Amino acid sequence: MSAASLPLAGQHVVLGVSGGIAAYKAVELLRRLMDLGAEVTPVLTASALEFVGAPTFRALSGRDPLTDLFRADEPIPHTRLGQGADLILVAPATANLLAKFAAGIADDALTTTLVATSAPVVLAAAMHTEMWLHPAVTANVATIRSRGFRVIDPERGRLAGGDIGYGRLAEPEVVIEAVLEELGTTRKPLLGRYVLVTAGGTREAIDPVRYIGNRSSGKQGIAVAQEAARLGATGALVTTVATPAIQGFEVVAVESALEMRDAVMGRLEQVDALVMCAAVADFRPAEVADQKIKRDSGIPEVKLVANPDILSEATGALRRSRPEAVVVGFAAETVDALRHGEEKLARKGVDIMVVNDVTEVGAGFGSDTNSVWLIARDGARSRIELAAKREVAAALLEKAFALEGEPRGQTRAN
Ligand code: CTP
Repeated sequence: MSAASLPLAGQHVVLGVSGGIAAYKAVELLRRLMDLGAEVTPVLTASALEFVGAPTFRALSGRDPLTDLFRADEPIPHTRLGQGADLILVAPATANLLAKFAAGIADDALTTTLVATSAPVVLAAAMHTEMWLHPAVTANVATIRSRGFRVIDPERGRLAGGDIGYGRLAEPEVVIEAVLEELGTTRKPLLGRYVLVTAGGTREAIDPVRYIGNRSSGKQGIAVAQEAARLGATGALVTTVATPAIQGFEVVAVESALEMRDAVMGRLEQVDALVMCAAVADFRPAEVADQKIKRDSGIPEVKLVANPDILSEATGALRRSRPEAVVVGFAAETVDALRHGEEKLARKGVDIMVVNDVTEVGAGFGSDTNSVWLIARDGARSRIELAAKREVAAALLEKAFALEGEPRGQTRAN
């Protein structure tokens, strides 16, 4: 097999090693990743270094392992590594490492790299049976999985101290298979495509202090932008909520529907897909008071006026200027979700409507998971049962770009 045809050729994998007896097995994983053509940068925690030595990792990878943020040659190695990685594999992942990752703690080279990445993360757990079965570890693993990251369960076998039980690092074949699977989905099918995403609920000012808002957390929209970036797209995320940097994406902070409209309409020129996740307020106060409305000035009457429908306006403009572009809308409903979703799909003229019933468990505002229906413009429906918002993002992007080349105006009976 020539170097270029190796399955991981051109892929940059960060191999994180945390401090457990299984740390020595990371050497074998490093070798296998290299054999498959990957470029690997090892990142070892201080406790990993109690079990294994950096020179072994340096010799095998041909790179200096990152072991200490403050002694590295460059000032912010973790962000460079995090952003440049196609995948981060942590093996072994100890109870401590899993707890930190679940909580977003970034206090050494490995944990900061993990928090500074939008690449897929695979964590191969290894620890003593009692630790693996502890409710805190169970909860941390559930949190990590709900965010779309992969945790490989430990296997049963001989553990440190001669005990037998669950806790042994999974076999190298299992770990490598998980890496290949994750990277299989991280081919870059959206390279060269421009995706415009909106996220969060708009805030419509009443006075300098108060606004009319809604419960949207923006998580689904952020997940769409992150997933699109992971698949190779560039684009913009127009958002009302704070968002970490996303590689290749411009993050545009807005507050009101009018600001969001300007940000969206001003960026249609190069759009291949528009995904309107934002919960746009349909109404805004007709007038915004210059000063805070005081209690002693009596109960105010706030007159409302209609906001523009950004999705309809943008879809209309795109149909004229870029007919190939696909448009995805969202409908968060509390009753008769599918019927409302179908009606909105038709009324707004979009290609896909993502419909969810926000009263369902795990699908509400602020949740890390969602369960939705995707209704395509030809009426075809597909259901995504409770899944991480990142998985919902992946499914809708796949559907959207699959529709790209197909002619519009056809209807298929359900
Ligand atoms: N939307 C928009 N501009 C608005 C309202 C909604 O662009 N002023 C978009 C949303 O981002 C979403 C889709 O339209 O993608 C559906 O939003 P929703 O609020 O469910 O639709 P409405 O037309 O406002 O219907 P409803 O009466 O249920 O509020």
